[in-house]
Amino acid sequence: MLIIGCSGASGIARNIAKKIECRFSQICSNKFPDGESYVRLMANARNEDVVLVQSFYGEINDKLIEVIFAGYTAMDLGAKKVTLIATYFPYMRQDNRFNSGEAISTEIVAKLMNGCFDRIVILDPHLHRKKKLSDLYEIDALKITAYPLIADYIKRNFMKDNPVIIGPDEESYKWAQTTAEQIGCEYSILEKKRHDARNVEVKFKKKISLKGRNVIIVDDMISTGHTVIETIKKLKALKVKSIKCICIHGIFIEDALKKIKSYGVEVIASNSIPNPVGKIDVSWIVATRMQEL
Ligand code: R5P
Repeated sequence: MLIIGCSGASGIARNIAKKIECRFSQICSNKFPDGESYVRLMANARNEDVVLVQSFYGEINDKLIEVIFAGYTAMDLGAKKVTLIATYFPYMRQDNRFNSGEAISTEIVAKLMNGCFDRIVILDPHLHRKKKLSDLYEIDALKITAYPLIADYIKRNFMKDNPVIIGPDEESYKWAQTTAEQIGCEYSILEKKRHDARNVEVKFKKKISLKGRNVIIVDDMISTGHTVIETIKKLKALKVKSIKCICIHGIFIEDALKKIKSYGVEVIASNSIPNPVGKIDVSWIVATRMQEL
């Protein structure tokens, strides 16, 4: 197997290659002066089982073009099989035409991936209306989850606090419940109404007493931070003792991390996207899963 680290995930790709004990190479990607993308594979892909590793944050569209070019090139150069591992995969939220004329980007991006990979492996994809990756992809599409790592992190660091797990919206039910069950503690979820990208309302579905409790909010991703901040406000109104917040994908745009911390809340994320609080390393769980395939 040849693991190729793309621009958003070279560290994780290197760790995966180390664990699997296979060849590692880094992609060469640049920009031409007019802004067009230049991509070059730096290792021989012929007859190889090529695995590209990418995390799609920041310049997301550039990162998409990079893997499209690299995937096609690996196939063109005679790779046996080409896989994309995405530690964070984008365009998963616009999975419907909410207003007339809108592009259903989740489906379009899936079609693009079908054309340049044999297989795609995504770490905790944000599946909502589409329940399974196989509802979206024609190629082999596998989901890996890092929630057991969150449960482990809580067990190792916060069990003495007798924590309560809180999911900030109905979608978070599955991961709040799974995490709480693995740790053996209580959990509850809120319901969320999103008015737009920066305007959300959350409320508890039923009356709950959390006075004096140590609460851990668990979500799949934090982007602008508004979901978590509104949840923090509701929890503070219930006079909880402390609040921590753990997510898989720490996108943290528009100073989200600073804003959340300003409420006195400790934030922990995985390193699926490089970020300053990425204390939970996902490389080993991805490598282990790859070895099982
Ligand atoms: C939504 O369904 C997700 O699970 C997250 O709660 C959401 O994407 C977080 O976004 P933001 O941080 O911008 O509120």
